Amino acid sequence: MRVYDLIIKKRSGWSLSKAEINYLVEGYAAGSIPDYQMAAFAMAVYFQGMTEEETLELTRAIVASGITINLDHIPGVKVDKHSTGGVGDTTTLVLAPLVAAAGLPVIKLSGRGLGHTGGTLDKLESIPGFKTALTAAELAEAVKKTGLAVAAQGPDLVPADKKLYALRDVTATVDSIPLIAASIMAKKLAVDCDALVLDVKTGTGAFMKGYEEAFELARSMAAIGRGAGRDTVAVISRMDQPLGKAIGNALEVKEAVLTLRGEGPPDLEELCLALGGWMAYLGNKVKDPGQGREFMKEFIDNGTALEKFRKLVESQGGDRRVVDDLSLLPGAGQQVEIKSDREGYISALNALQIGSAAINLGSGRKEIDDPVDPAVGIILHKKMGDPVRAGETLALVHVSPESRKGTIDAVHKMIKSAFKYSEDPAPVSPLICGWIDREGGEYHV
Ligand code: URA
Ligand code: CA
Repeated sequence: MRVYDLIIKKRSGWSLSKAEINYLVEGYAAGSIPDYQMAAFAMAVYFQGMTEEETLELTRAIVASGITINLDHIPGVKVDKHSTGGVGDTTTLVLAPLVAAAGLPVIKLSGRGLGHTGGTLDKLESIPGFKTALTAAELAEAVKKTGLAVAAQGPDLVPADKKLYALRDVTATVDSIPLIAASIMAKKLAVDCDALVLDVKTGTGAFMKGYEEAFELARSMAAIGRGAGRDTVAVISRMDQPLGKAIGNALEVKEAVLTLRGEGPPDLEELCLALGGWMAYLGNKVKDPGQGREFMKEFIDNGTALEKFRKLVESQGGDRRVVDDLSLLPGAGQQVEIKSDREGYISALNALQIGSAAINLGSGRKEIDDPVDPAVGIILHKKMGDPVRAGETLALVHVSPESRKGTIDAVHKMIKSAFKYSEDPAPVSPLICGWIDREGGEYHV
């Protein structure tokens, strides 16, 4: 086999066999295939796409490049969840303890912030002492003892994905649906769970801005899951505006705790209950996802989900007192109010702009090794559909005492211009706009 011929084959629109895909991924991971050939191959995929079978084989080859995490010793249906990433997406922090409270074991390997989006690990690490680097043995122990663990994906899982992603990032080949689907699903399949609920975002703050392409990504990911023998559903949810009110690490931990107390923002609670409902359904706890939603609500109402969050914090070395005294979380010294200079209704609230503003404040990284400031972020006081008067607060920005005036002014401008107005109440689209069920059936709201 010659890599050159495989590049020509894909460039000409043909499908590659399982053996050919394995050859490419193994050779690239081992270093025998150079970056320039893999980059040319990725670009050929970008233009020609991949069939469902090819995408599944690509995913399997990426999984096979590293170790996998076996969960056989943990009793019960293991249901995992994955979001394609958004702004202020505090879901995992709420959902992991919620689902564990419902009696389903939760083993969640999460990531750090990417681009304008936040990462679950960065958020959890804003809790003093919280440790996300767990060995496979520590992970197993935590799940056995408390029913849940949220940890970083170690370097020995899917090494081919890390190398390929870094290459795609600098060769304009990130936004290819089969490459994204294989990259995400490889990380999921490397952990041996039974079922999977995917939250695929659409809108300004999402990877896939348009609804059609988000649905296509969902379709591709769900097909890989089914092809690999996992019970998989995908929910397509809106990321036109940030989720909830808080964007920023410690601020989102606070928001998660409030949501677990039943005092969270309605959109965040709705998404958590909907995804949790699907997880309860796939975990055989209820007859249908709608019933699952009601079932999940119970664990917020009776305080057991919040107790699971305390257990999670404690088991991973964090200060559990934080859960009952949110003032123990890192706080920014300075708050800047952003006020509306006109009246009307909020018709749009650009999630990408808000996410980028939060990164500029220091809540995420611009370079891979940048430190993250746990305390900074944004609290939205107005969201889409809300009425607003001139002089009212649109958002409160938590800034570090070290922030330069130029940065604060730029962030102020970015946030202010993210808000668009209408004269009359603007209709707000439903948060969940479609889903793909476990048989691959498609539904649009
Ligand atoms: N997230 C991933 O993990 N991989 C991609 O390719 C894109 C987004
Ligand atoms: Ca949020």
